[in-house]
Amino acid sequence: MLGLTFIMNLSIAENIEEPSDELTQVAQEVIAGLSQSPKQVSPKYFYDEKGSALFDAITELDEYYVPRVEKAILVRHRAEICAAIGSGMTLVEPGAGSCEKIRWLLPELDLAAYIPMDISGEHLQASAVSLSDDYAELKISPQVCDHTQGIDIDLAADDAAPVFFYPGSSVGNFEPEAAVEFMRAMRAQMQDTGGLLIGVDTKKDADILHAAYNDSAGVTAQFNVNLLDNLNSLLEGDIDTDKFAHHALYNAEHGRIEMHLRCIGRHSAQLAGHQLEFDEGELVHTEYSYKYHPDEFIELAKSAGFAPVKVWQDEDRWFSVMYFEPV
Ligand code: AVI
Repeated sequence: MLGLTFIMNLSIAENIEEPSDELTQVAQEVIAGLSQSPKQVSPKYFYDEKGSALFDAITELDEYYVPRVEKAILVRHRAEICAAIGSGMTLVEPGAGSCEKIRWLLPELDLAAYIPMDISGEHLQASAVSLSDDYAELKISPQVCDHTQGIDIDLAADDAAPVFFYPGSSVGNFEPEAAVEFMRAMRAQMQDTGGLLIGVDTKKDADILHAAYNDSAGVTAQFNVNLLDNLNSLLEGDIDTDKFAHHALYNAEHGRIEMHLRCIGRHSAQLAGHQLEFDEGELVHTEYSYKYHPDEFIELAKSAGFAPVKVWQDEDRWFSVMYFEPV
């Protein structure tokens, strides 16, 4: 391992547009989504400070099995997973957040460098500092960026090949075509070597899925409704959040959880200077969470230029961790 260091890579942060431009872009995107029928808002607006804390709380819920089962797979098969990745690679983790999941592999992973990416610079920097406290020898180069808008890692010709790590079934939040595009963007960062280690939630009993997205403590409901609070504060809005209820269901035909906010009282609101009308019973779509049989997901990865190396699952087959190499 390299002897060093913690490098804050500001190359992307420096290119971030002026806040006013950014805000205009956000306003345009959000208003466009809320002007469609049915109305929709991108799930990325879940993750303000409160939303991120609520998501952390979701990951602690008994009903939301995803992190628990994925961790068990990664820890149980760690030696084999790390052997598949090989040594001396550059591990890139889009949406790394608190950099917790890489810790499940690091005891047996020999990396040249780790590049966590996240849209929230402060949180990312704090997580990277804490990781470097525990792994002082690991070269950590955080990149502040929105990976859903494209991936551009700053690798020099002699840097080790990138292996992308995309856990948590976050790939399920893309529609399948967009998931392929996203994997193509990762593939484009590789030549002949590199890899993709990805966590993918599987299709299962609808009751288990329903409970995972309709927890009894109502945390997922708060997480969903908080998206409107976030829009109000980002875009000087006055949407009445009491007039919306959480609505999540498993659509077996499409193999996806569909999350919506259901309007429970007709009302008008302002957002970024626009007038919005919500009808009683109207649904605002906020998230898809696709579930895949391993074979289905392998087909998607193949069309993005990857070949499967190995799939690891838990005994109940509730979750898959898959490793792919470029073809
Ligand atoms: C982040 N993502 C993988 C979660 C999921 O399961 O689709 C987001 C989530 N939404 C409600 N609960 C969890």
